[in-house]
Amino acid sequence: MTEFTVTPWEVTGDIDYDELQRKFGTSPIDDEVLRRLSKYGELHPMLKRGIFYSHRDLIPLLDSYDKGDEFMLYTGRGPSGNTHLGHMMPWIFNKWVQDTFKVPMFFQMTDDEKFLFKDLTLHDTRNMAYENALDFIALGFDTEKTKIILDTECIKTLYPIALKVAKKVTFSTAKAVFGFENSSNIGQIFFTTMQTAPAFLASEIYGKQMPCLIPCGIDQDPHFRVTRDVAPGLNYPKPSMLYCKMFPGLSGADKMSSSDENATIYTTDTPKAVKKKVGRAFTGGCVSVEEQRQKGGNPDVCAVFKYNYYMFEHDDKKLEEMIHKCRNGEILCGECKQALTEKINVFLEDHQAKREEAKEVVDSMTFDGFKW
Ligand code: TRP
Repeated sequence: MTEFTVTPWEVTGDIDYDELQRKFGTSPIDDEVLRRLSKYGELHPMLKRGIFYSHRDLIPLLDSYDKGDEFMLYTGRGPSGNTHLGHMMPWIFNKWVQDTFKVPMFFQMTDDEKFLFKDLTLHDTRNMAYENALDFIALGFDTEKTKIILDTECIKTLYPIALKVAKKVTFSTAKAVFGFENSSNIGQIFFTTMQTAPAFLASEIYGKQMPCLIPCGIDQDPHFRVTRDVAPGLNYPKPSMLYCKMFPGLSGADKMSSSDENATIYTTDTPKAVKKKVGRAFTGGCVSVEEQRQKGGNPDVCAVFKYNYYMFEHDDKKLEEMIHKCRNGEILCGECKQALTEKINVFLEDHQAKREEAKEVVDSMTFDGFKW
């Protein structure tokens, strides 16, 4: 058995995603679920390719949507640093969900969380939140229907909900779910209630049970298990979940992480920086050109291939061709790296322009109307 850890605060090792699904007790997004989803529009490649691969209670949510009920879309970000591609991946998917179902959305920025769990000041986390919000907005979310929550600003609205949740969660549950110890600061113990609050917020605002869908990384499941456990007792609907795998690092690690700067592509990277980082990426190539021409490479372990698969090549045929040519030794790692560098740089050039434009609307998209 391989060793791995997946918690909201730590993702390490060689992740066995099927095992994780079994451990957490979530359901697979199988062909039947995909068939159901395809009724609403063309499936996003992240669904077809098993990147969004697991769910909780998606079907009842779709049933109620079919009967004419809206639902609230909700996801979030803990602002601890600059945005990288790994953060963007689930947001891109959320944008597809909003476009497909035409639903309102909350984007929660947990500056409180990162203050409590990292060596950062509240000033740092707020600045990061602003920078991250620009990246989120740049993806084109509906400016009318999407509201950004910053915990320390929106606390007045969130706190009564968080309190109701807190009263239902014992210290022993929090310890069992999150592994707190006597040395954990007490803010950390309370924090999960803050991540739960937006899941119930629409029900509060509309004064009726409002279904909620949360697409995010599967590492967030411990929080939302708590959310779902307390929901019935508070007369809120349990949120439905859509879970994705972690976006890989360029080093071949299972998760892109800011702790490995050279294997991480930030949204603000220059074309030169991208070229350098992709140039150093871990691939499935051989040590010499001759050997690779003869034996071929291995796309299964290749970070460059994974980037195409996860985000940068939507055309299945082109992906197949890439695999074929690689295994046959017809294409070398340098060529793949160059092609990926170009794709990323095209994406970033456009994104960076939209990120600038986002500055015009960032104040108008805040929940409760706070100003950045
Ligand atoms: N805890 C998440 C993080 O560290 C941030 C977050 C808040 C979130 N609310 C969320 C993530 C809802 C996914 C869905 O990034």
